[in-house]
Amino acid sequence: MRLSLPHVPGLLLPFALLPLSLLPACGKGSPGKRKSVVAFSQCTTTEPWRVLFNRELKREAEKHADEFDLVVADAEDRTDRQVEQVENFIRQKVDVLLVSPKESPGLTPVVERAIDAGIPVLVLDRNVATERVTAFIGGDNREIGRAAGGFAVDHLGGLGKATGKVIEIWGGMASTPAQERHLGFRDYVAKEPGIEILLDNQDGDWKQDRGYSIMETALKAFPRIDLVYAHNDPMAYGAYLAAKDAGRDKGIAFVGIDAIPEEGGLWVKKGWLTATFVYATPGVEAIRQATKLLQGETVPETTTLPTRAVTRETVDAFLAAAGVGSK
Ligand code: FRU
Repeated sequence: MRLSLPHVPGLLLPFALLPLSLLPACGKGSPGKRKSVVAFSQCTTTEPWRVLFNRELKREAEKHADEFDLVVADAEDRTDRQVEQVENFIRQKVDVLLVSPKESPGLTPVVERAIDAGIPVLVLDRNVATERVTAFIGGDNREIGRAAGGFAVDHLGGLGKATGKVIEIWGGMASTPAQERHLGFRDYVAKEPGIEILLDNQDGDWKQDRGYSIMETALKAFPRIDLVYAHNDPMAYGAYLAAKDAGRDKGIAFVGIDAIPEEGGLWVKKGWLTATFVYATPGVEAIRQATKLLQGETVPETTTLPTRAVTRETVDAFLAAAGVGSK
């Protein structure tokens, strides 16, 4: 018999999945009890950090293949699509829902509906605007923003003495990491009378090409720019490329966030970025916690993943530890 799934755009089925009403009784040694399903709604896979996130999550889930099936849906960077996919998971009564939201306001109501339906929800990396979730796993983006702000102040002359003209390129403005990375940066930089923020209201939506075009415009408007702070490495790299194309890359420091060794790490090594900050993906921890929930255990309300700076001084050790050659 052939079974067809209801059409959900972007739904990937890396592990076998049938509509749950049609799932065979396949629970381990317990006839009549179906195997558990952990469903993951990933907002996008257009950025390399998301691809790494999915890879880490799937690899960890493979260790538990006899305990549950994993279903991964890619919302292709669209809030409406992600809401639709989460609705679908609620209808299917999945056992644990993992969500990494595109943005906060758009995803909050559907996450609450999942909780109302009795499904445990782990929110990953970007948060929603409700306390009514099972748990949140992600980095402390305010802290990462502060670390970037501290680096910028040091780079521009040190506490109380820093001088320079700064451009900030936002990630998606409706997402919590962008909001927190902005606030953390301001915690440091706004206290420095010698630092002038030339631009801090441009939404680059985490994309390299948007970073490029925001910087291209900024270069035309401002004869002097000393430092660019972008909310992720792809946008910082895009800004660097724009400056290079305009022949102005040499005098400008480019600071990003993510530090994927093969990307931001290598860009620091090559001297294209001045610094980046590790933003670990929550993939492995999400699966560990989902497994606990399936076993009836509790999980902490918040799990904060650590960060650290990758600069010219630390990049060699960083790349070596990640097993990445620096050619
Ligand atoms: C990928 C990404 C990362 C960033 C994170 C923030 O989609 O933009 O580059 O650190 O999301 O949520």
